[in-house]
Amino acid sequence: KVIHLKDYQAPEYLIDETHLTFELYEDRTLVHAQLVMRRNPERPAGKLPPLELHGQQLELLSIALNDRELGAGDYQIGAECLTLQPDSESFVIDSSVVIHPETNTALEGLYKSGGMFCTQCEAEGFRKITYYLDRPDVMSKFTTTVSAEQKAYPVLLSNGNPIASGSEDNGRHWATWEDPFKKPAYLFALVAGDLWCVEDSFTTMSGRNVALRIYVEPENIDKCQHAMDSLKKSMKWDEETYGREYDLDIFMIVAVNDFNMGAMENKGLNIFNSSAVLARAETATDAAHQRVEAIVAHEYFHNWSGNRVTCRDWFQLSLKEGFTVFRDAQFSSDMNSATVKRIEDVAYLRTHQFAEDAGPMAHSVRPESFIEISNFYTLTVYEKGAEVVRMIQTLLGKDDFRKGSDLYFERHDGQAVTVDDFVKAMEDANGADLSQFKRWYSQAGTPRLSVSEHYDAAAQTYRLTFRQSCPPTPGQPTKQPFVIPVELGLLAADGADMPLRLAGEAQAVGTSRVLAVTEAEQSFTFVDVAERPLPSLLRGFSAPVKLEFPYSRDQLMFLMQHDSDGFNRWEAGQQLSVQVLQELIGQHQRGEALAMDERLVEALRSVLQNDALDPAMVAEMLSLPGEAYLTEISEVADVDAIHAAREFARREIGSRLFEPFYQRYMNHREVSRQTPYVASAEHFARRALQNIALAYLMFSERADILSLCLDQFDNADNMTERLSALASLTHSPFEEKRLKALEVFAEHFHDNPLVMDQWFSVQAASPLPGGLERVQTLMQHPAFTLKNPNKVRALIGAFANQNLVNFHRADGAGYRFLADQVITLNAMNPQIASRLLAPLTRWRKYDDARQALMKGELERILASGELSSDVYEVVSKSLA
Ligand code: ARG
Ligand code: ZN
Repeated sequence: KVIHLKDYQAPEYLIDETHLTFELYEDRTLVHAQLVMRRNPERPAGKLPPLELHGQQLELLSIALNDRELGAGDYQIGAECLTLQPDSESFVIDSSVVIHPETNTALEGLYKSGGMFCTQCEAEGFRKITYYLDRPDVMSKFTTTVSAEQKAYPVLLSNGNPIASGSEDNGRHWATWEDPFKKPAYLFALVAGDLWCVEDSFTTMSGRNVALRIYVEPENIDKCQHAMDSLKKSMKWDEETYGREYDLDIFMIVAVNDFNMGAMENKGLNIFNSSAVLARAETATDAAHQRVEAIVAHEYFHNWSGNRVTCRDWFQLSLKEGFTVFRDAQFSSDMNSATVKRIEDVAYLRTHQFAEDAGPMAHSVRPESFIEISNFYTLTVYEKGAEVVRMIQTLLGKDDFRKGSDLYFERHDGQAVTVDDFVKAMEDANGADLSQFKRWYSQAGTPRLSVSEHYDAAAQTYRLTFRQSCPPTPGQPTKQPFVIPVELGLLAADGADMPLRLAGEAQAVGTSRVLAVTEAEQSFTFVDVAERPLPSLLRGFSAPVKLEFPYSRDQLMFLMQHDSDGFNRWEAGQQLSVQVLQELIGQHQRGEALAMDERLVEALRSVLQNDALDPAMVAEMLSLPGEAYLTEISEVADVDAIHAAREFARREIGSRLFEPFYQRYMNHREVSRQTPYVASAEHFARRALQNIALAYLMFSERADILSLCLDQFDNADNMTERLSALASLTHSPFEEKRLKALEVFAEHFHDNPLVMDQWFSVQAASPLPGGLERVQTLMQHPAFTLKNPNKVRALIGAFANQNLVNFHRADGAGYRFLADQVITLNAMNPQIASRLLAPLTRWRKYDDARQALMKGELERILASGELSSDVYEVVSKSLA
């Protein structure tokens, strides 16, 4: 069934108060709900409409209306709803249902993860807990009582503040929580388990004291400090940057092992995938530490952008997600290197979101329709949505953007609103007109922006002409022009930025500025341009578009050296690498010997030898564009040629720059050896460069380098160095050492599931031949289970997304394998099944033979039996 945005209607009834009681048992859970309801005054008066409560997989024990027990004739139960006829404007519904968290493998609603009970209600999971108006525009005050056996479940948590608790004679105990803030059901949470907690506190800007607690299973109590530090930094940052203060007396995070996504912002009780909380030097990499910091911040920031101001309906998802991703990105760039954070985000967006935009599931930031909302927690809604908010800030300026966000929070506190309300607040606070800009919310697809130049030496003018277009996407054959903010500078021959004066302006305005391109074709003329400039376009990636400008390789090398914008220095290097790699791909396809352009090696040499550059930037610049990105920018991707070309380039760079890599490696490794682990930007930077140097050095296949690698693997005191060494070994031909290292690692870390995830991923991503068979063997490993989403992602996900040569094997065995897993998971966990499918939906990018094989597997899934709405939507749209 397709749901359309245009069909939105406000609810007929409201729920002012929700009183829940959970009785948790090993073989069932009883849920009693008392809903204090009334008719929505904003709906037309007259005859009382029927009340349709959402409910799925619930076993109804009893239901009463205003204390009157209802009989079978008083209501109807369908697969999705319970319908009854109220007889007054205000009334109370009491219901009791039985549910089965102990057999819930979909990890939606109330379920068990290991020995603990927990919930995931966003988007529509609450209806698997009790009969309710499970929609975000119904906001209610919740009181929740949880009762369970005391010994197995000493900790009982829900949203808000604890107000009462007690024990019973039968070994059970209970606790009552009250959340003073009205909230939609998707923000409800409950946890019961044998958990330990790390405690701290935070004093808010108005001087209130907030208790902070992170709950984990006892064996993880030593891995919470980094998340706690991140939480306190986030709370401070949101006060300073957005004026947002926390609003309850307690803020809790709970780590659970089985979780479909990263984490969930339930009011006062955030529930996290353990991979997004637990981090310490010995077991988590630098990347994992940064991910924990970002996700803790993201969920915390939702307390305002999501909870205090929430979404009217799920089409508005990016209202909270795009804005909150933007906020967490700003936070991460303030805590670490801003340029490196931007590079990572842009590389991720261009590789994965652009691919989504080019595929059969392409949708706008505010989708128009869906079959299953879980399928729309996408890169487009999250990451592109964040880019759209970022563009608003770029167009308005930071101060005016803040005025807009202040007005938004003030105007809509306690409400469920839309993307239009957000944009309106930005407009009203600043007298701005963003009506054309809003096309970014409604038009899908990645715009192309091609730029041409004209320099008139006699007149000393320089004209840039921009042409924008956007390819068709499903349901949207043609597009209107976007508002594209283009930040740019003009470089003189000495590399300095020129002053920028547009025709008609009295004087120059800065040396880097934002032009708004609003037409399909539009020119800007700069005056007083004394020499032919080299343009630096789309600085900081000021808009999520594909920029085309005919740079020569020498010009790109010049920008790499001189651009005052750090992001664009990196970008110039990437474009140079893309040109060189595409040339190699062509050579491979024509059966020629591969020969690489010297200039790339020399450009990278000067980067590597520049001690003034941030080592993290050096590491970024030395990373060639990934195979997935090269695939995305190809018309038809030649998997084998892409892999061969990139591997050739990496070997070539490794051997040509052996000396400087060796020096860098030895220096950095020595510092690492002598410095205790610190999770800070400076230390991340050193280790990043050290490890990329090691990877390049390992291409030499020299015995002395192998010894360095083994030494780092054996003796490093942190997971970043150890895992990098393992990854370098895993991709190397030293089979015996490789197998030994993998065995030693697994033996040492077998009882740490998050570390074992890394161990699975490293092997799943190895491009060595026989990848599929290795993955199939690993599925039999005792540490692997399809029931745990992290394991599925670590092994099967990593194989299909990061091991392109093996996954896209010409005989289609990789596709068949993935389809088999999707079919199995469809019955167990539809959300994970549907996400795992994504690589098969990209069939358009491949040659005819592979296209046929991929579509064949999609058809096989479609015919495999009863499909969840999640899998059905993705498969059917991919074949349409
Ligand atoms: N709101 C969460 C976040 O982005 C995501 C939870 C979505 N869960 C789901 N099953 N779709 O922070
Ligand atoms: Zn979020």
